[in-house]
Amino acid sequence: MKKFTCAADIGDWRKAVKEALEIKANRFAYSELGRNRTLMMIFFNSSLRTRLSTQKAAMNLGMNVIVLDVNQGAWKLETERGVIMDGDKAEHLLEAIPVMGCYCDLIGVRSFAGLTDKNADYEERVIEQFIRYSGRPVFSMEAATRHPLQSFADLITIEEFKTKERPKVVMTWAPHPRALPQAVPNSFAEWMNMTDYDFVITHPHGYELDPSFTGRAKIEYDQKKAFEGADFIYAKNWSAYTDPNYGKILSTDRAWEVTSDKMALTDNAFFMHCLPVRRNMIVSDDVIESPQSIVIPEAANREISAQTVIKRMLESL
Ligand code: CP
Repeated sequence: MKKFTCAADIGDWRKAVKEALEIKANRFAYSELGRNRTLMMIFFNSSLRTRLSTQKAAMNLGMNVIVLDVNQGAWKLETERGVIMDGDKAEHLLEAIPVMGCYCDLIGVRSFAGLTDKNADYEERVIEQFIRYSGRPVFSMEAATRHPLQSFADLITIEEFKTKERPKVVMTWAPHPRALPQAVPNSFAEWMNMTDYDFVITHPHGYELDPSFTGRAKIEYDQKKAFEGADFIYAKNWSAYTDPNYGKILSTDRAWEVTSDKMALTDNAFFMHCLPVRRNMIVSDDVIESPQSIVIPEAANREISAQTVIKRMLESL
């Protein structure tokens, strides 16, 4: 595997989940594979789970790890070509990327959407430059439009917890005080569309996602109707995708919060969220603390999704 930025890069999803569960059962089986190899993790944005789980995954494989927080201690980076660099950005990504590539064998990049220029975000300009200029296999630790390590962990979690061959999975928009990217919901939809699950997306009018991600999903504007008979509720906020409102908050309507009343409409569904989550905005305390909440096993599987991807990349060096 030379790059991992989208669902297609994982290949056969059933094979990938099987491999992931084998790794989970014996996560030190390949501790020699990464010997004398270095992973460089580059963060343009904050992280708790991705940072810790990916580092742990690389360590399980015997790798050395370098972590760079671009906004803390490095030179401020210019990302656009053609800019006259007379401002506070001292280094261009076009030099920084190949230099970083000199010091490592694999690169993980986190770079969120700016949410002001839809074309720039959906062209994935930052991670695409890493793929083009680093000379190293590159994987996404959440880019502007997708979060594939999260979605792979979500898929592993659903496969572990499902009690029906073809569960009903409902992704619901929920309110949040800040404008968030569409990366997690886009990516979750992309991965769910690889499966044969009954997949439903519910959100208020105006929050339609890019149809190239939502694909075969049933769009249901009535949240309560969407929840009926669900086996998994996947909550997430996102900002508007459609023009002229790209990147804007259109609603903070608390009526969309995931509450126990709504969970009672489901078929005893499991509650999922990628975390971090705003309690009593996205989900009520009682739902996230209930036995049906699987947010912690879901986060734990981030180590497994990362290890599967890094293992495949090491095998291709
Ligand atoms: N879910 C997730 O990616 O968490 P972090 O932003 O903390 O890495």
